[in-house]
Amino acid sequence: MHLHPLLLFLQAFTLVLPSVVPDAPASRAGVELLDPTLPPALPARTPKCTVAVLDHAFAVGVASLPVVSVNYTQPPGCSAPWTRVVLEVAMAASAPARKHRVAAVWLDGVEILRTSTPPLLTAADSFWRVQKDVTRYAAILSRLAGGGTVSMIVDNSAVDLAAVLAANVSFHFYRGELSASSTHTGHPGVWGLYREPADLVIPISREHGSYGSGFWFQISGNPHAVAAPVTVPRNTYRSVLEIFVSYHADDESWYMNPLRFTYNAGDVAASTANGGFRQLYATVDGRFVGGHVPYAVIYSSSINPYLWSPVTAIGTFDIPSHDIDLTPFLELLLDGRPHEVAIGVKDAQKYWLLSANLHLWVDRWSDAVQAGIVEYTTPTLKVNRNGQWHNQDGHSEVDAEGQLRFVGWVSSSKGNMTTTVTQKVRFKSQVSVHNRGAVRQVDVVNKEKTAVTTKSGQRTVGKVQLLMEAPLQVQTSVVRVAGGPTLENTRLSHQLHEAAYVKELSAVSMSTLSDRQEAEGSAMVHDGEAQWGMASTRSYYKYNDENSCYLRTVTTEEGAIKVDMASRSCSAVSDA
Ligand SMILES: *[C@@H]1O[C@H](CO)[C@@H](O)[C@H](O)[C@H]1NC(C)=O
Ligand SMILES: *[C@@H]1O[C@H](CO)[C@@H](O)[C@H](O)[C@H]1NC(C)=O
Ligand SMILES: *[C@@H]1O[C@H](CO)[C@@H](O)[C@H](O)[C@H]1NC(C)=O
Repeated sequence: MHLHPLLLFLQAFTLVLPSVVPDAPASRAGVELLDPTLPPALPARTPKCTVAVLDHAFAVGVASLPVVSVNYTQPPGCSAPWTRVVLEVAMAASAPARKHRVAAVWLDGVEILRTSTPPLLTAADSFWRVQKDVTRYAAILSRLAGGGTVSMIVDNSAVDLAAVLAANVSFHFYRGELSASSTHTGHPGVWGLYREPADLVIPISREHGSYGSGFWFQISGNPHAVAAPVTVPRNTYRSVLEIFVSYHADDESWYMNPLRFTYNAGDVAASTANGGFRQLYATVDGRFVGGHVPYAVIYSSSINPYLWSPVTAIGTFDIPSHDIDLTPFLELLLDGRPHEVAIGVKDAQKYWLLSANLHLWVDRWSDAVQAGIVEYTTPTLKVNRNGQWHNQDGHSEVDAEGQLRFVGWVSSSKGNMTTTVTQKVRFKSQVSVHNRGAVRQVDVVNKEKTAVTTKSGQRTVGKVQLLMEAPLQVQTSVVRVAGGPTLENTRLSHQLHEAAYVKELSAVSMSTLSDRQEAEGSAMVHDGEAQWGMASTRSYYKYNDENSCYLRTVTTEEGAIKVDMASRSCSAVSDA
């Protein structure tokens, strides 16, 4: 990205500035906000049943919103087994809101969705719908047949809230064969690890979360981690830890933070200047068992909100969770006693909200399986930090690189299988600030390659390879008008690429996802809030596997959709 066109753009914009009235556009009919991803519901099929579980209007202008919990019982005729379960959360707001909100849905303390609100820019009603394939939580869903609790919370950190934020939560249960073109789910990583839903899902979340402030744990930098005691069945032969995170307050846009070694007293940037790198990790009884650099979901109010209306930023509706395969570590957990599973974020600042689920697959043919750790290479993520500053201007860089390898065996009725987990991480964050703080350029490289290989003796019986790449470039420039609002111009490019390759005996399958957004726009900012703006955004989403290909491109300009093309065969849509 070069600075030059941006400056031209900026000049052009400055010329029109005096005629612009910083006010919300005239109200229009309801605005639908959307995230154009793969529809998780089955095309041309109606669910066996749809169950509405929660219908709630989150309070009117109240700062503290307690969690909402309802008792749930699976209706008769709807019970397991299902081929697919889809969660649908329909939300609506009846007034503009400056600040995004993060929300979550739990089933008996098991988180099944972390989501955030799109920009609510107009006085008109806004509505949106989040659909998520939740088949991997089938164990907890079928337990609800005997009664359970569905809870939802909207993070209460910001005082201003659209007059009413209404939410309906429902489940769609599908039975019977899936057509070949709809067997996979949107995220290749999820499909790679949860092809068979686990037999048990144990929450690593706050106790008694159905009252008060919800099931998520809050971490504020120090300590970086929270822990919960977990007892796993002695016949567990496979385990994956799934971690949900969202970042708030000083870390709301951590991926844009410069690194500064010295803080000037009164420097407003000091509290958010801890470098653009965070590492999410887990430990079992204090031992590191894996980690990830989180995917940088851009919340709607973090960078010019006008970029994200009506198409929201990648991952805002269904914030991607992070999975760690714990199978090589089962030896630590199989003694029938409680163990401490901790989750944390290195370099976190105030504050993050975390909860996790431990997915367990159990051996129905034995009461106890045996397991042993074979190889544990103490993971070293080499992190280099560098910053050079002259007053407001300068450059900061954080590089992280590392690999890890864990090997363990599990002997069950399936045989004595050795699982090897390898992971390679490459991360780089560069933040430069010029023109006395007026221009900021952010460049992030985030790549990860994970492989889980299962062997019986010398024979490889399974292999899952996952690739993730999430480059991000943001350029912002600010024009200050003495005593008035500031004008911020932004250009942004953000991507999420995921690929999964799965080999079971001799059968091979693959799935790839490419989600890409290019956006450019301006906003008038007063007291840290965008008052007026305009933007254009291009989104490109492509999913394919050996049976299907789905492509959708959406172009938006000044809050309206200009082009929206979708193809279920990836043909007939030009990438113009
Ligand atoms: C849910 O069930 C519990 C236990 O049966 C009961 O105490 C509670 O009042 C119920 N809550 C609601 C909202 O119906
Ligand atoms: C929730 O469902 C009710 C009843 O069907 C409907 O009137 C309402 O508009 C829905 N709310 C949202 C946010 O979709
Ligand atoms: C399973 O295999 C591993 C490695 O080959 C071996 O060390 C271990 O003793 C075996 N366990 C059992 C119960 O046979």
